[in-house]
Amino acid sequence: MSKKRVAVLISGRGSNMTALIEAARQRDYPAEIALVVSNRPGAQGLGRAGDAGVATAIVDHTTFGDDREAFERALDAQLRTHRIDLVCLAGFMRLLSPWFVARWSGRLLNIHPALLPQFKGLDTHRRALAAGAKRHGATVHFVVAEMDSGPIVAQESVPVLEGDTEETLARRVLEVEHRIYPEALRALAEGRASLAAAATQEDTR
Ligand code: GRF
Repeated sequence: MSKKRVAVLISGRGSNMTALIEAARQRDYPAEIALVVSNRPGAQGLGRAGDAGVATAIVDHTTFGDDREAFERALDAQLRTHRIDLVCLAGFMRLLSPWFVARWSGRLLNIHPALLPQFKGLDTHRRALAAGAKRHGATVHFVVAEMDSGPIVAQESVPVLEGDTEETLARRVLEVEHRIYPEALRALAEGRASLAAAATQEDTR
């Protein structure tokens, strides 16, 4: 079976992107990272992707002003040009419109550094500490129009330890992220995960 062509969308560091690129080097991995797109020209991850020999593109949202649709059409055009099958958001800091989400429905994953549905949005580690959470973690989910709300593909928790700071907790969660994102992408690429199945599972939970 031919490998699925995957684009990873980033805005910054790109450590999850790197974990996906590394996983996809395995011969039996069902997907290849064919493209990395950043909405920020200075994103550190672009250099990492280039070093790994992966094609990169920049779609700078600032050049589109307030025209979100034009930005997303340009993004979509890059994905089509590179014949992309699946898209992974990895630290991509733009909200996507219902138009884009519908276009890639069931083929669009995100990783979020919290145990969804807890702590949607930003500053998850700080908020988990402030709430006195005993466990925290990371979630890979299908992207739907509502932010950080799609059906879950993979989730893993870590303990919150006495004396944890945002930094130490983030580091522990990031290790989990780098493990579960490649697993979740594998499940999607192999057809073991689907939006419909994940949604049904959630209904019966
Ligand atoms: C990760 O914690 C991810 O879960 C969140 O943003 C961070 C991105 O880190 N969405 P990186 O760019 O993958 O290193």
